[in-house]
Amino acid sequence: MDESKLDNRALMMLTYGLYVITSHYGDKLNGLICDAAMQVARNPARLAISINKTGLTHDYIVQSGEFALSILEESTPMTFIGLFGFRSGRDIDKLSQVAFKKGVSGCPLVTEHCLAVLEATVCQQVDVGSHTLFIGEVISSEVLKEGTPMTYIYYRQQLKGKTPSNSPTYSGEK
Ligand SMILES: Cc1cc2nc3c(=O)[nH]c(=O)nc-3n(C[C@H](O)[C@H](O)[C@H](O)COP(=O)(O)O)c2cc1C
Repeated sequence: MDESKLDNRALMMLTYGLYVITSHYGDKLNGLICDAAMQVARNPARLAISINKTGLTHDYIVQSGEFALSILEESTPMTFIGLFGFRSGRDIDKLSQVAFKKGVSGCPLVTEHCLAVLEATVCQQVDVGSHTLFIGEVISSEVLKEGTPMTYIYYRQQLKGKTPSNSPTYSGEK
């Protein structure tokens, strides 16, 4: 479709959560903020995440074949989202700045500001252009505490949060 005919307001009505996706490469750990994540199958349970090809987390997921998803709570501070969503692990060690535990896959499970954690083994990866869609089979899951999950719309409308251009939901806004 011609980009000039694309109405971003229609795309912005799609709803998402907000997650920390983590992975590892040997002993090295990294993660990013992701809204493009969802459950896509049951029995076995499978998750799909869309990850920008330029990010360090992308490299780690390709190399390890594993990722973890930590579900952010609504009260997550903007500084925390900024750390994972606007900085690259190529420049800083993000995991040294937050509380986490290692999962069975070796991926870090972020416990700070998160309600639940899931780990998955990649069973398919699809090149969707700027991003790779990783589909993973869930190998572990745990609820950390009760609470309200952060949604993308809450982040945008209530917290006035921004979205970087390497997110699939970026629509050219400042
Ligand atoms: C609200 C928000 C949503 C985002 N959603 C995604 C996403 O779905 N996929 C993605 O690849 N990056 C997304 N990003 C961008 C990454 O979190 C960001 O590029 C990060 O700095 C990459 O880090 P890395 O190089 O350490 O992997 C999002 C960022 C924010 C703030």
